Amino acid sequence: MKRRALVAGNWKMNGSHDFNASLVREIVLEIKRFPDIDVLVCPPAPYLDAVGRQLAGSAIQLGAQNLCEQPKPGAFTGEIHGGMLRDVGCAYVIVGHSERRALYAETDARVAQKFAVALACGLTPILCVGETLDEREQHRTEAVIARQLAAVIEDSGIASFKQAVIAYEPVWAIGTGKTATPAQAQEVHAFIRGQLAAADARIANSTRILYGGSVKAENAQSLFNCPDVDGGLIGGASLKADEFVAICAAAQ
Ligand code: G3H
Repeated sequence: MKRRALVAGNWKMNGSHDFNASLVREIVLEIKRFPDIDVLVCPPAPYLDAVGRQLAGSAIQLGAQNLCEQPKPGAFTGEIHGGMLRDVGCAYVIVGHSERRALYAETDARVAQKFAVALACGLTPILCVGETLDEREQHRTEAVIARQLAAVIEDSGIASFKQAVIAYEPVWAIGTGKTATPAQAQEVHAFIRGQLAAADARIANSTRILYGGSVKAENAQSLFNCPDVDGGLIGGASLKADEFVAICAAAQ
């Protein structure tokens, strides 16, 4: 089965009203050239509503970078419920990004709760998995990723991946300029698909697995050519309209 590519821009904690408006204006103009892929932008939470309004009428979808693990809204100061993300037009939400795992102590269990709440709210979670440099050097890449996946599969079930995306993001490649080689990416993507296939081959075959980690216009094509790479989760390069559009072109 050929999977439809997805290119998602994770703006992380960057942007302003003016910056976002100009970036989105340029991307919206260009994106019409790529009808065969899905494109998504994930601005910081305060800008979701404004960016969503600017995207109205375009094919670009809106995603959030995080959500609260609480299943119901209530007294959780500073947190954002998945229903609120839906309310402002989000279709996707990133879950378990390595920056949240490392800097905000998000455990596998909490990531699994967030994944479940996202689904319950009608959002498509983008589940991030990936190993640190130490873990890779200790040949623990597969064990780490198997553990990260298992936490979610055990909690939400394999069928939940009918409405989910996985992003493989080697931590050592994020924001470092060091990209996994296409061979390294393909090896891990095939492993991830194999983990899903052990539970359900059909779901494994249809689940989109994105690569993230220093994707740029110059390396996107070789990564996207890999049979198990179904697009990218783009950080730094998603803040430059020409780079992001060139990455979309490579996925088309
Ligand atoms: O979510 C995006 C990834 O963390 C990749 O970030 O493209 O800046 O390396 P990067």
